Amino acid sequence: MQENVLLIGGGGREHAIARALEDSGVDLYACAGNRNPGIARIATDFETLETTDPDAVVDYAEDVDATLAVIGPEAPLEAGVADELEDAGIYAFGPKAEDARIETDKAFQRRFMEENDIPGCPDFETFDDMEAACEFVDEYDGDLAIKPAGLTGGKGVKVIGDQVTPEEGKEYIRESDYDRIVLEERLIGEEFTVQAFVANGTLETAPAVQDHKRAYEGDEGPNTGGMGSYSDATTALPFMTEDDYDEAVSIIEATVDALDDYRGILYGQFMLTSEGPKVIEFNARFGDPEAMNTLPVLETDFLEVLTAARDGESVPELEFADQATVCKYAVPEGYPTDPEAGAKVQVDEESAGDALLYYASVDERDDGIYTTTSRSFAVVGLADSITEAEEIAESALEVAGEEGLHMRHDIGKPDLVQQRIDHVDELRGE
Ligand code: AMP
Ligand code: GLY
Repeated sequence: MQENVLLIGGGGREHAIARALEDSGVDLYACAGNRNPGIARIATDFETLETTDPDAVVDYAEDVDATLAVIGPEAPLEAGVADELEDAGIYAFGPKAEDARIETDKAFQRRFMEENDIPGCPDFETFDDMEAACEFVDEYDGDLAIKPAGLTGGKGVKVIGDQVTPEEGKEYIRESDYDRIVLEERLIGEEFTVQAFVANGTLETAPAVQDHKRAYEGDEGPNTGGMGSYSDATTALPFMTEDDYDEAVSIIEATVDALDDYRGILYGQFMLTSEGPKVIEFNARFGDPEAMNTLPVLETDFLEVLTAARDGESVPELEFADQATVCKYAVPEGYPTDPEAGAKVQVDEESAGDALLYYASVDERDDGIYTTTSRSFAVVGLADSITEAEEIAESALEVAGEEGLHMRHDIGKPDLVQQRIDHVDELRGE
């Protein structure tokens, strides 16, 4: 059967999804708020529309006779795009709004873990009253993470003892005008991501990835959507054991069991602490950048996953190439606080050499591609080791140059990876 697949979203993650479907013989249609030039080149048609408007998405899906849809970002999930596509008879690989609350409502997420006895949940309290939250900060014995309950693009969390003092934390709570926040135990350790492909009560997981949220080298500066990420040629990362990975997978399995018929990607973000993996959060979609580590090494046809999900079957056993990956984002100078748009992007998919190039928020004009105020593009190296993959990514960044751009050169370099290993050794008293 000829599949017409509608891809929703226009970032680097969705460019990676488009690439994963490029050779599977589908007709790919894409819609997003921004025209992603990489996706547009792969797709049969690209429509610019508001992806949080379910009617607009369904209209376009019907126009192109979509037989399947893949939803990349969280905002359309929260807006109920999967629900409305299903009402229109189009299977969407992505959870319904109710199930996406595992990401879109952090207070719900924590209560859900607690009620279902899902392991790896830190101590937490939820607050509607911001003065009561400030009192809790004063009384709590230890540092807390302050988390707005709703979506903030990964930029709303403030960790006391790391980014802010208790006084600054309280000021943030009072001044930010959030309706509801979660205060939870500050977890200490190394972060990693495990993404699961979920459908019909079954799941398959991808190798672990480590993202880098901080804007500047050495993990300094404000939180971002993610500046880059790496994975190893094995399922675990150099600072963790296979048992740590398996423990994270069992937390994801317990979560999928407790969710009623979840479908799509379930992304677990973990902190590897001295007591093993704890959950920082769940997302209801691929990570961005993590999708760019995972999909290039997925050897199973992604279309097979989508059709099995739609047809009520188990997720097929997934094969991943035994290769390490390093992904580095180039972002506009000043990102995320004062980004300056308008720099011309000097690298393209051909001049990136051995690296893969994924476009994110860029603006394609007659004379070239320009940055906007969000992450611009990412380069990904694939090789037998993290070190070699990093060198491949760096050679593409060299072609891009630094005019108007910022990137973290430290991601995936031996020094930074070794620091992660040393950190976990220290926590484990080794
Ligand atoms: P999130 O938006 O939940 O992914 O949080 C953004 C970042 O805040 C995470 O990547 C962590 O670095 C940090 N964070 C979130 N929750 C905690 C926690 N309980 N303890 C320590 N750091 C945290
Ligand atoms: N890389 C973090 C995220 O996608 O939320």
